[in-house]
Formats: sequence, C-alpha cells, structure tokens
Amino acid sequence: MTNTVVLFSSSRRNGNTGKLLDSVVGGGSVDIINLSALDISEYDYDHKNINDDFLPLIKKVLTYDKIIFASPVYWYSVTPTMKTFLDRISDLLDLPDLLDLGRQLRGKKTYVLSTSISHEISDSFINLFKDTFNYLGMKYCGYVHANCSDDYKVDEYEDDIHNFLALLN
Ligand SMILES: Cc1cc2nc3c(=O)[nH]c(=O)nc-3n(C[C@H](O)[C@H](O)[C@H](O)COP(=O)(O)O)c2cc1C
Repeated sequence: MTNTVVLFSSSRRNGNTGKLLDSVVGGGSVDIINLSALDISEYDYDHKNINDDFLPLIKKVLTYDKIIFASPVYWYSVTPTMKTFLDRISDLLDLPDLLDLGRQLRGKKTYVLSTSISHEISDSFINLFKDTFNYLGMKYCGYVHANCSDDYKVDEYEDDIHNFLALLN
C-alpha cells in the first residue's frame, strides 16, 4: 500500500468506520488524515476562507497516487465533514491560481471505505463519490463496505478486506 493516503471522516474515530479502517490498514505505514481534526470551513463563493486548512491539505493529498475516502453512511450520504471537503475541491476549479492543483487530481486512483447498517452500500452514497471522481478525472478503483447493524465484526469481513487490499497493491 505504498503512496496511499486515507481521508477519514466519522463522528467518532473509534466507531465502526474507524475500526474497519484500522483492520484494512493494520499497523502499516499508511497515512490517515482525520478530516475532523482540521479546520475546513464550508465552501465560500468569495473564497474568504482560503487560508484555512483546505489548501495545505489538498497539496499534501496530491503528493499521493492513491486516495482512500473513508466515511460512514449518514442519511444515504457522506458525513458533513467529508461533503465539505468535496465541496472545497471547487476552490481548485474556481480560482485561476489553483487550476493547476485541480488538474493534478486527474488520474489519481481513488477508493471508498464505508460502513452502514445495510449489507449493500447505498447507491446515493457510492454514486456521489463515483460521479465526483469521474467529473474530476480521477480513477475510481473500488470499495470495501461493512454492514454494522450489529456493530463491526472483523471476522465477517476478512475476505472483503483481503480483496480490497488486492485492489490497492
Ligand atoms: C446520523 C446517522 C445517519 C445514518 N444514516 C444511515 C443511512 O442512511 N443508512 C444506513 O444504512 N445507516 C445509517 N446510519 C448508520 C451508520 O451508517 C452506521 O451505524 C455506521 O457504521 C456508523 O459508523 P461510525 O461508527 O463510524 O459513525 C446512520 C447513522 C447515523 C449516526
């Protein structure tokens, strides 16, 4: 899993999504960025928030080839923090000085890691990512999803994790 970064968002670090993430990345050397630990404010048409943590974050993310987006399903969608991160990518399309950063997203390999209380990943949730990646020219490479209706049970997902890791390596 070289050159991989995880963008993690959940209302709790050690909840179901965090546990699934930990069983995927193990004690390995993958960099995990907890979006909740950063100051990333909502999209602003006037870009008065340009000096918050978004720009340094996206510059760091662009140094990796593979990006794992990790979020629980909250109301058929991603967490508000993950959505805000995705919204802020618009900064890179709006501001002439940042267009080159936006172009650097093209070709990045993307993956989704999620949990919910359903066996199936929600269509609206995964399509939100797929459509966004497609628009930005990023390459969607697959997902791992755990049904946590009875909490996260690692033994039930060993095969899925194995298959997901095969996509990453
Ligand atoms: C605010 C909220 C909204 C949720 N919405 C959904 C949903 O739309 N579909 C679903 O299957 N599960 C939903 N769930 C269940 C969570 O996706 C599930 O418990 C998940 O594993 C929680 O991960 P976490 O421990 O990282 O927060 C919701 C949970 C919360 C707290």
